[in-house]
Amino acid sequence: MSDIIGLQKKYLVPTYSPELLFVRGEGCRLWDHKNREFLDFASGIGVCSLGHAHPVVADAVSKQVSKLVHVSNLYMNENQPKLAEKLIKHSFPGGVFFANSGAEANEGMIKLARKYGSSKGKFEIITMNDSFHGRTLATLAATGRAKFRKGFEPHMPGFYHVPFNDIEALKKQITPRTCAVMIEPVQGEGGIIPADPEYLNAVRALCSEHDIMLLFDEVQCGMGRTGTFFAWQHYGVKPDAVSLAKALGNGFPIGAFIVKEKYKHILDLGTHATTFGGTPLACAAALAVLNVFDNDNILKNCKEMSTYLFGKLQALKEKYSQIVEIRGAGLMIGIVFDEPAGWLKNMTEKEGLLTLTAGENVLRLLPPLIVTNDEIDQAIDIIDHAIAQKENK
Ligand SMILES: Cc1ncc(COP(=O)(O)O)c(C=O)c1O
Repeated sequence: MSDIIGLQKKYLVPTYSPELLFVRGEGCRLWDHKNREFLDFASGIGVCSLGHAHPVVADAVSKQVSKLVHVSNLYMNENQPKLAEKLIKHSFPGGVFFANSGAEANEGMIKLARKYGSSKGKFEIITMNDSFHGRTLATLAATGRAKFRKGFEPHMPGFYHVPFNDIEALKKQITPRTCAVMIEPVQGEGGIIPADPEYLNAVRALCSEHDIMLLFDEVQCGMGRTGTFFAWQHYGVKPDAVSLAKALGNGFPIGAFIVKEKYKHILDLGTHATTFGGTPLACAAALAVLNVFDNDNILKNCKEMSTYLFGKLQALKEKYSQIVEIRGAGLMIGIVFDEPAGWLKNMTEKEGLLTLTAGENVLRLLPPLIVTNDEIDQAIDIIDHAIAQKENK
């Protein structure tokens, strides 16, 4: 396997610096090339919510791959309309556009809002400080985290960032040219920051009042991650359009945005397109995922394990003064420290637990939604041990 590491270093554009080489996964566990076992509380950045190598998804993909992989959107396929129907049943009456990633789903939503505003001279989109919407040029302009935008100037014009959870700041930024407000109901990359319920309700009212589209980016917080199918369902605040990706295919690349019936015909014939979006294969994977969600009561497990994990983390907070806060929803959880948390991610990794960081001082946990009490106990032991080791140094 040392040849793989050599090839990686020699032939990859160095936008990442991975150190581990994984060869196999099952459920919440991964094995590297030395057959070392890891507990995965990162889920491939919130993607493998049903765990690795889920048999129902694997079976659906392998059957479809030898039946029909791709025909383009110039033709119908048996899976795409069925998947759209399922997503509509989980959200609101309207239409679905399929893409291949989170950034592409958001690009589509941004185009939807721009097209809606175009006849009225509206094109400005307001997004939140610390938000993350993707790495394409429009989604980068939408992204509030300045560090991701640096070096890619000039940014696409028309995007304005305001502090999250601050309704007065949003009011001040609205102009007659505003066509949309885009929000992650629970910010992911920004540090696992949930929207305040009053704030989200006030944003909805403001958007309706000013004929502004409310767009939710649920690429990370959607698909059951917070314990409801969409995060907005906690708040009872419906968007005009919502994007999804990450866990939709449990690792098979697929993204989508769903738009309310009222706005379904804004993107009409020929105004938006994709070669790969919504292939029979990608939709077979996502259909299998949604069937597992419905049949295996994934949301119930997410909620139960969330309560258990939050309880364990609160106990850790009592034990260690450097833990400032435990926040998030469902199994999208941030442990907020009084200093950057990268050291802890590195230490838990050495002990066989994969975690993520977010924002500046946050250790982010995104375990598969099928996680068990025992797996949570094991993860907590590793985190506890890592913090204790640092304290004793
Ligand atoms: C909230 C949010 N939106 C968009 C994206 C971009 O998704 P992708 O990496 O699939 O383009 C991400 C990725 O982390 C995300 O967390």
